[in-house]
Amino acid sequence: MNAFAARRRGGRLARLLRVAAGVLAVAGSLAALVVTLNLRGEEPVQPGAASPVDPVAQAALVERGAYLARAGNCSGCHTARGGPEWAGGRGVETPFGVVYAGNLTPDPETGIGDWNASHFWRALHNGRSKDGRVLYPAFPYTHYTRITREDADAMFAFLRTVPPVVQPNAAHALRFPYDSQAALAVWRALYFRPEPWRDDPARDARWNRGAYLVRGLGHCSACHAPRNAWGAIDAALEWSGGLVPMQRWYAPSLVSAGEGGVGHWPVEDVVRLLRDGTNGHASVLGPMAEVVRRSTQYLSRDDLTAMAVFLQSLPAATVAAQPAVPQPVEPRVASLGARVYADHCAGCHGEDGRGSADAFPPLASNRAVLMASPANVIRVVLSGGFLPSTAGNPRPYGMPPFSHLLTDEQVAAVVTHVRTSWGNQASPVGLSEVLRYR
Ligand code: HEC
Ligand code: HEC
Ligand code: HEC
Repeated sequence: MNAFAARRRGGRLARLLRVAAGVLAVAGSLAALVVTLNLRGEEPVQPGAASPVDPVAQAALVERGAYLARAGNCSGCHTARGGPEWAGGRGVETPFGVVYAGNLTPDPETGIGDWNASHFWRALHNGRSKDGRVLYPAFPYTHYTRITREDADAMFAFLRTVPPVVQPNAAHALRFPYDSQAALAVWRALYFRPEPWRDDPARDARWNRGAYLVRGLGHCSACHAPRNAWGAIDAALEWSGGLVPMQRWYAPSLVSAGEGGVGHWPVEDVVRLLRDGTNGHASVLGPMAEVVRRSTQYLSRDDLTAMAVFLQSLPAATVAAQPAVPQPVEPRVASLGARVYADHCAGCHGEDGRGSADAFPPLASNRAVLMASPANVIRVVLSGGFLPSTAGNPRPYGMPPFSHLLTDEQVAAVVTHVRTSWGNQASPVGLSEVLRYR
């Protein structure tokens, strides 16, 4: 090898090393950036606050905390089916695997007994656990970040008073690479930013209260917004409807009158829907029935009114109307659908699809039936409908599930029937859609 070639090779090596050092430096500063972004907006954890001495003030704080925890539906996720309340163990299914909600009782070993109000605030506002672990957004801190410190403290004071339960937290069952803290940190750097609540000075106190409840504690858009491939919500689409992950229900757009929008309803109808589960022309189904059952039925009239005022102020989206010309239905499907309807549905919903006042919802001109997405009609036929029992509607009628009685073909036909009869002109539903939502 001559001196010239050796020098050239040496030069190449040096260049390679320089590139490698550059790549490492970029990776290093990216990692540092991710860490910085994950810690943005954090305040140092303070030592535990001295508990208020006045027992009356303390009792009022605990009561307010209990109310706020209802508004946030915290126990809905932090209680396993049939398990002790607040002891965790319920799995939240996501496209990336199952994330288990933890034990929030004051047991010091397995619950949050050794936390202070500052740790609790950091979990809600920044999405970080006491041990510093970043938390999965299956815990909707993406919304709870807007909860005020005051309200977080009240909920913490309340959780101090629930009976301690010894129940270790279940390990999450997430697929690689979603099971790593590094992947989660990257997600958070891209999609999460702690957001201290600020009232909009251009709006009145009631609107702001409603916005706070709907966008913060109520975490309504955790369901009512579409999510991208990484499970994140685009702020611009916040109210435009989305499939509730894994449950295959469609949470309709809250800005479109043809779906779940309430801009054109009297305020009282919105209050009744959230308080009673039904208002005479609409009724809640599936996951929304759970929201009313566990959360909104307990809210005060003032708070429900504020939420209604906020929801009604959302800018209305223009939606595609139903097709003006009915889409053709195969005669075989049409007659099968009519037969199934007469045998299994007409007894409650009526031959004419008009239902019966307050007991069985009408299916004719019902937007829940006419929506472009047939998900909920398929789901309610398969798994039935169970309105929550509420003070305003203590003994609701239910709809039985038909998944064991009807074949997929019969389900497709009867759903097509209700979507295309009595003046309804929504698109027919095929077998593949029934299979998708089964
Ligand atoms: C949609 C389901 C859901 C709701 C509603 C919910 N949580 Fe959770 N929560 C979770 C899940 C899942 C985790 C576990 C996240 C993780 O470990 O990464 C969690 C974790 C937590 C943690 C951290 C526990 C720990 O050991 O680090 C706290 C604190 C908490 N939630 C409080 C609340 C409060 C307060 C509310 C109501 C305002 C609430 N949660 C509502 C699902 C939920
Ligand atoms: C766990 C998911 C989930 C959450 C959280 C949720 N919703 Fe819903 N919502 C749904 C689904 C699914 C439907 C469609 C079924 C139905 O019509 O009830 C729905 C329907 C609705 C409707 C239309 C009802 C009708 O019959 O026209 C309104 C209005 C509504 N939700 C408001 C809210 C508000 C306000 C909140 C927050 C307090 C909220 N939702 C939180 C899932 C959710
Ligand atoms: C025993 C009476 C009963 C029978 C039989 C019954 N339903 Fe229902 N249906 C109800 C009740 C009650 C509700 C309201 C449930 C709720 O809101 O959770 C309902 C809700 C619905 C809804 C949702 C309407 C809305 O406004 O959200 C659809 C669609 C529906 N039923 C279709 C059918 C079809 C199709 C059949 C036959 C396969 C059927 N039902 C059989 C009682 C019945």
